[in-house]
Amino acid sequence: MPLQKHLILVGPMGAGKSTIGRLLSEQLSCSFVDIDKEIEERSGATIPWIFDIEGEEGFRDRETQAIVEMCKEPPQIIATGGGCILRLQNRQCIVQSGVVIYLATSVEQQLQRTGRDKNRPLLQTQNPKKTLEVMAEVRNPLYSEVADLYIDTNLKPTKLVMQEILSFL
Ligand code: S3P
Repeated sequence: MPLQKHLILVGPMGAGKSTIGRLLSEQLSCSFVDIDKEIEERSGATIPWIFDIEGEEGFRDRETQAIVEMCKEPPQIIATGGGCILRLQNRQCIVQSGVVIYLATSVEQQLQRTGRDKNRPLLQTQNPKKTLEVMAEVRNPLYSEVADLYIDTNLKPTKLVMQEILSFL
């Protein structure tokens, strides 16, 4: 059955948005877009390079443009980057365009999955744990604000996360 609306995955880095997005697209036989990948394809550059040359604001502008344009496409699965909810324009676009699934996780789990990841420029700090804690404080209420479904993915097998989403739809 074709999707009636986009299914939009939000949540912090390392919560499994891209993995779950890909699995959902297989299960539901619909297309999948990962906004980070979309930005890289459109710009012909990597995310660290964009942060380096254009700064976070430059990256956020590209992110907003990709989100707005992808939301105009026929319904599909959309995995967003962890910081997209910082902009009101993105939050409004997401809420208006789809069913929003918040994949939540703990800072500990995030650190295990992303701690040494060179592709995440915001984590190249002296203290990634502290960085993630500060991000969580600012961002978690914003994810909750836009979410239609909240799933705590912490220590939860992917299969269970998928079951929760599919039974909600
Ligand atoms: C970011 C998360 C990343 C990517 C960029 C910034 C953030 O996406 O968009 O590095 O601000 O949390 P993932 O959530 O897919 O890692």
